[in-house]
Amino acid sequence: MKMSLTKKLAFGFILTVMVSIAIVAIISNIMINFRFNEYLISQQKNKINNVCKMAEDLYNKDNGFSGTNTDEIKRYASVEDFLIEIKDANGNIIFNNNKVDNNMDYMMKSMMERKMGNYVEIKNNLMKDNKKIGSIVIGYFDKSYINSDALNFKITLNQSFMFSSLIALFIGFLVSFIFSKQISKPLIVINNVANKIRSGDLNARCKIKSSTNEIIELSESMNYLGDTLKKQEMLRKRSTADIAHELRTPLSTLKTHIEAMLDGIWAPTKERLESFYEEIERLIKLVNNLRSLSKLEEVNLNLSRSKFNVKDLVMSIIKNMESIYNKKNYKLIMGNTIDLEVFWDRDKIIQIMDNLLSNAYKYLESNGVVKIDMKREKNNIIIEVEDNGIGIPEKDLPYIFERFYRSDKSRSRNTGGSGIGLAITKALVEAHDGKIEVYSEEGKGTKFVIKMPFMEYSSIL
Ligand SMILES: Nc1ncnc2c1ncn2[C@@H]1O[C@H](COP(=O)(O)OP(=O)(O)OP(=O)(O)O)[C@@H](O)[C@H]1O
Ligand SMILES: [Mg+2]
Repeated sequence: MKMSLTKKLAFGFILTVMVSIAIVAIISNIMINFRFNEYLISQQKNKINNVCKMAEDLYNKDNGFSGTNTDEIKRYASVEDFLIEIKDANGNIIFNNNKVDNNMDYMMKSMMERKMGNYVEIKNNLMKDNKKIGSIVIGYFDKSYINSDALNFKITLNQSFMFSSLIALFIGFLVSFIFSKQISKPLIVINNVANKIRSGDLNARCKIKSSTNEIIELSESMNYLGDTLKKQEMLRKRSTADIAHELRTPLSTLKTHIEAMLDGIWAPTKERLESFYEEIERLIKLVNNLRSLSKLEEVNLNLSRSKFNVKDLVMSIIKNMESIYNKKNYKLIMGNTIDLEVFWDRDKIIQIMDNLLSNAYKYLESNGVVKIDMKREKNNIIIEVEDNGIGIPEKDLPYIFERFYRSDKSRSRNTGGSGIGLAITKALVEAHDGKIEVYSEEGKGTKFVIKMPFMEYSSIL
């Protein structure tokens, strides 16, 4: 059932209050009934003792039961609803309110009607100085002790329960109202912000003061979501412009040059065809990167792991790249290495290293040096690729692993590239449960550090 938070809280509070009062009322009624009955029974016993005392007093006053005035006992019997019969030591009846009044039937009937329970008789000896002076039989209805005072007490008690329930209900309602307002008010604000963000206002943020942790967390999450969406939106806009630029430049160069050849202005020389070829290569690389990127979108990046020696693999990558580096008099050197069999995806590791080494190459200056270091740290292998190139401005560092992000510096150098390489690299490292970090200082150089858990082939078999 759908219900507003206010209603739900109010309903919950009121239900709790009502159930608590009902439980208290039931338990106290049971306990009080029990104790009260005990008290009333003891009262009844006292009254019976009183009658016996009265009879003994009469005996003393009149020096025996002959000619006794029994008016007092009569009054007592009628007040307490007792049927009393007193006999002297010889068995002669001295007092009997039952037979004297001849009213027994009437009394019995009226008492039955008043639901006073079963008729009970108690027989006591009347004693004086350890001598039996007579006997007394007291008859009564076993529930007759529940007199009007007792009933009144119970009624008042239950009325006070009713009254306190009403007060508690009112307080419960008030508290639930205040609580629900405290909770629902910030939720309404957060909801409004969510709606604004949904309709495109990515600057909307929650400013909430609340003493409820969950609400503060929710508002912070909403603000974080806003920040992330804003950042993504900025990157999206930037990347669309970048891709358009990357595609347009080689395509328009190709177009004008081919037009010139078709018009006979330019001869199709070998050098010109080679430069066409280079432009086409750039386009192919861009398209390949875009394809890799779309593969990254797949939730599970499947690795095809195999056993290989990490040192051998890195050495062979360096060997392949060396000639390109040498052309510009750059150096690609191997620092520390570790000779270890790992169980990684070989092609993906090659792609990771290619991306890092080609980036470093693009941003090197004269006397450029790139150094690769490897070490083992517990169950991880750390691979560092460090260059002494132009470095990355601090403001760009948080974004360089984002798709299509390129620093302004790298654009101005016109090095080519679409800003996808590092996004792919990061995804590939993470697919191996690893991490990649970057440290850089403008004008000094850049260091990428990859930390990947290695699995020794023997431990998998
Ligand atoms: N070694 C480095 N030195 C200086 N800047 C770097 C270095 N590596 C990366 N960058 C910066 O990070 C940006 C992102 O790198 P990334 O590899 O993702 O893209 P790219 O190299 O520009 O293009 P692509 O790799 O898609 O061809 C680069 O444009 C550059 O600004
Ligand atoms: Mg790159």
